[in-house]
Amino acid sequence: MIPFQLPGDKSISHRALILACLADRQSRIRNLPGSADVHSTRTALAALGALVSDVDVGVVHVSGPTAWSPSPQPIDCGNSGTTSRLLMGLLVGLGVPGSLTGDESLRHRPMDRAVYPLQSMGGRIKYAERRDRLPVLVEGRTSGSLRVLRYRARVASAQVKSALLLAGLGAGVEVEVREPGVSRDHTERMLSSLDVPIEFGPLEDGGARVLLAGQPDRFRLPAFDLTVPGDVSSASFLICAGLLMGQPVTIDGVGLNETRTGFLNVLRRMGAEVTERIEETRLGEPVGRLEVVPGRLEAFEIEADEVPVLVDEIPVLAVLAARARGVSRISGAGELRVKESDRLAGLARNLDAIGVECQERPDGLVIEGSNRLLNGTVLTRGDHRIAMAFGSLGRSPGCSIEVNDMACVNVSYPGFWTDLDQLATRSES
Ligand code: S3P
Repeated sequence: MIPFQLPGDKSISHRALILACLADRQSRIRNLPGSADVHSTRTALAALGALVSDVDVGVVHVSGPTAWSPSPQPIDCGNSGTTSRLLMGLLVGLGVPGSLTGDESLRHRPMDRAVYPLQSMGGRIKYAERRDRLPVLVEGRTSGSLRVLRYRARVASAQVKSALLLAGLGAGVEVEVREPGVSRDHTERMLSSLDVPIEFGPLEDGGARVLLAGQPDRFRLPAFDLTVPGDVSSASFLICAGLLMGQPVTIDGVGLNETRTGFLNVLRRMGAEVTERIEETRLGEPVGRLEVVPGRLEAFEIEADEVPVLVDEIPVLAVLAARARGVSRISGAGELRVKESDRLAGLARNLDAIGVECQERPDGLVIEGSNRLLNGTVLTRGDHRIAMAFGSLGRSPGCSIEVNDMACVNVSYPGFWTDLDQLATRSES
């Protein structure tokens, strides 16, 4: 069986591009995905004066500007929440003025969660139109005007935590963030492996803490050469399709950071055989081979404490629940309502539209598995993960499902439909 190799992880790619701009020399990033979200970060950095040049497909050289230039136009972050929130932190930390906006979906997503702590550390950032929504305006500031931040976040969010760390890094001030759960720790791992003094890890109460030390005279990082690990969130859709088709799936060179692989534990509880083999570490990120062998799918339960480590995989787990034996329950997942779309509503509506018994709860879903024929049209509302989750289900036996907007997968995984076809062809032969 030929293993799949996936384009680079979206979360790590955003961070690699940004951190490369803070390095003292040119960095090289390989396996950068051609996805729209990562492109948004790349063009935003270029608008601020960074040099990002293609040297081959998926290989870029990145040099940060010697002097950051305020962008004359508002910077369009497209559909990418990570781009908008991380860049807020970067601009505030560097004291570079700029305005950030996004597409219709991003302009509906909450921004107070990043803006408020940035303001409380002295950042001059304000809303251009409506409270809590893009566009935001970052004003310039004199150096030395940001204060130490000790922040206790209400929701676990790697985007917010990373925005605050970037602000602290840019301004050279200490930042401590406590979160109620364990959100993805890519920024922390990457900074630590670039010799930035940073401590991070889970707390006994189920939360997590990160402490970035203040560095009065320095925020230049060493340059680096990174091959971005394959995106385990993209992998989840192929794994889901494999489970539903009864087809083992092997993925090489994939990121296996445990703050991202929570869904694999759910698959194990469902009865799949999952093997993770870590082969190397790249900028602090474990990378290796992932193998998933199908088993009979049993229903599962997910509660609030587990949500942060599988937050992007709930769509895929929800479609698996539709084919599991028994009733699956997801709770404590209210954050899904403020993703690229309201994913709890979108999942419930679309599961219902194809004939799955599903109840929508304020913070979750209850899904009854069955092996009945599932057919109907899925409305993605432009959400890439809804398209890929139902796309995977749709290729499995006993389904006749149309996805209304197939192109929205380009946000994170442009090759998705081709890879899905390849998997389906293997399963038929
Ligand atoms: C991301 C963090 C998560 C995740 C998103 C990517 C990141 O969002 O859902 O797809 O790269 O930091 P939140 O920080 O809103 O939880």
